[in-house]
Amino acid sequence: MSKRVYINTIGCQMNVYDSERIVNSLIPLGYETTPSVESADLIITNTCTIREKAEQKAFSFLGRLAKLKRKNKDLIIAVGGCVAQQQGQTILKRMSHVDLVFGTRALGRLPLAIEKIAKQRCRIVDVDMSSSLEDEALQSHVLKADTVSKFVTIMRGCDNFCAYCVVPHVRGREISRDPALIIKEIEQLVNEGVREVTLLGQNVNSYGKKEGLCTFVELLSRINTIEGLSRIRFTTSHPKDLSGELINAFGSLEKLCNHLHLPIQSGSNRILKRMNRKYTREAYLTKVAELRVACPEISITTDIIVGFPGETLADFEDTLSLIRQMRYDSLFVFNYSDRPLVPSRKFTPKVPEKDKNTRLQQVLDVQKTITEEIHAARVGQTMPVLVEGHSKRQKMEYSERIDTPLQWSGRTTCNKIVNFIADGSTKAAPADFTGETVCVSIERALSHSLWGKLKEKASDCSALKGDRSYAA
Ligand code: SAH
Ligand code: SF4
Ligand code: F3S
Repeated sequence: MSKRVYINTIGCQMNVYDSERIVNSLIPLGYETTPSVESADLIITNTCTIREKAEQKAFSFLGRLAKLKRKNKDLIIAVGGCVAQQQGQTILKRMSHVDLVFGTRALGRLPLAIEKIAKQRCRIVDVDMSSSLEDEALQSHVLKADTVSKFVTIMRGCDNFCAYCVVPHVRGREISRDPALIIKEIEQLVNEGVREVTLLGQNVNSYGKKEGLCTFVELLSRINTIEGLSRIRFTTSHPKDLSGELINAFGSLEKLCNHLHLPIQSGSNRILKRMNRKYTREAYLTKVAELRVACPEISITTDIIVGFPGETLADFEDTLSLIRQMRYDSLFVFNYSDRPLVPSRKFTPKVPEKDKNTRLQQVLDVQKTITEEIHAARVGQTMPVLVEGHSKRQKMEYSERIDTPLQWSGRTTCNKIVNFIADGSTKAAPADFTGETVCVSIERALSHSLWGKLKEKASDCSALKGDRSYAA
């Protein structure tokens, strides 16, 4: 009889990718996933510790599992990811219902550990970081294409040691995967129906350097030739390492999307220095200017931290002025959070929580206006959209509202969500658009998305990058 595994994923895209591999590596043991935590034989939490809140989320979920364990003594509870790596044994001491703690480089050993626990009812901690990246158990996984777009991790770890960041401490030193294995993985995904990949690494610009593999741009060029793949995205590129070669790739690789996530963190040079970011506001702006020459259509997004220790009102004003100058398409903003092991933990003066909240809200307000203006300028344009499926709201409402035209959802190459309808008058409308790149005329701009109608002729937007797959 098959056993059921429930997996709860907290944190970044790397954890999403790892969770999929974890689930796949458990198939040979007879596990299939369940959406119901109550019916699971094995519950895995893949955790994040980037900010205190993420860690609290993991522990509050784990706390709620104690009563399930009391009801079912055979239930196995496992904790993986960045909190697991950081706290190891402490988690077992703190929570008697947890059976297994596995770190960020123990993924390949997970099936063996689960089998051992099932047989011997022992408790295991595995936070060894010395393993190679390409574990056999992870290679043998069956790739499933349940979505049009997939993440592919190309490197693990980070060597940058930004003063606030826990990642180098919990993910270890940077290691790049073999390009041949990355290509093989993407080809398999494309065979299964995937049309877009997002390559993941904490700093993709240093891909392959240590190991003497190919460069990141060479890897992109190779992926660009994979037949059937429509789009390539990647995240993250550290501004200090954003090379001229990569900037030019945005103008020359036709599958590379017109979007770059380029985290600035702060607009103040004094704070950037204290953060150990190794670039200035001016150097960042120069690179962005070059990018906009190489690819005028590029959309740029960013991450901001407010309330870094020592951040004055003048420093914060520099961040606001940078946001206004940059006119980001969108951004993520976080309150600074003290993390274990990081240098900034000892930096003073700390910014009071209420001031961080005020600054966070100010950033959101400034950005909201900019995003709305950028979205409004899109009304009336025709944009290529890679269709991901029905819009979320439609999925919920469709059973009750079958009279409304079916609404589809996808993204533009510049990463805007577009919801659209393809009504009966549209001859170009095939039964299912999922995985296709179609042209949509934008009729309405919303704060987080655009809304439009399917256009009949693909040729209307053929001048734009990334839509070649429509004609194919
Ligand atoms: N490698 C990526 C970022 C990974 S972490 C990069 O360098 O861009 C994602 C984001 O979390 C960071 O960009 C930063 O804005 C935020 N972050 C990291 N540590 C934080 C902390 N201690 N407090 C608040 N935000 C933090
Ligand atoms: Fe953290 Fe900096 Fe590495 Fe990004 S580059 S993961 S912010 S240490
Ligand atoms: Fe969180 Fe670890 Fe990712 S700390 S952001 S899950 S690398």
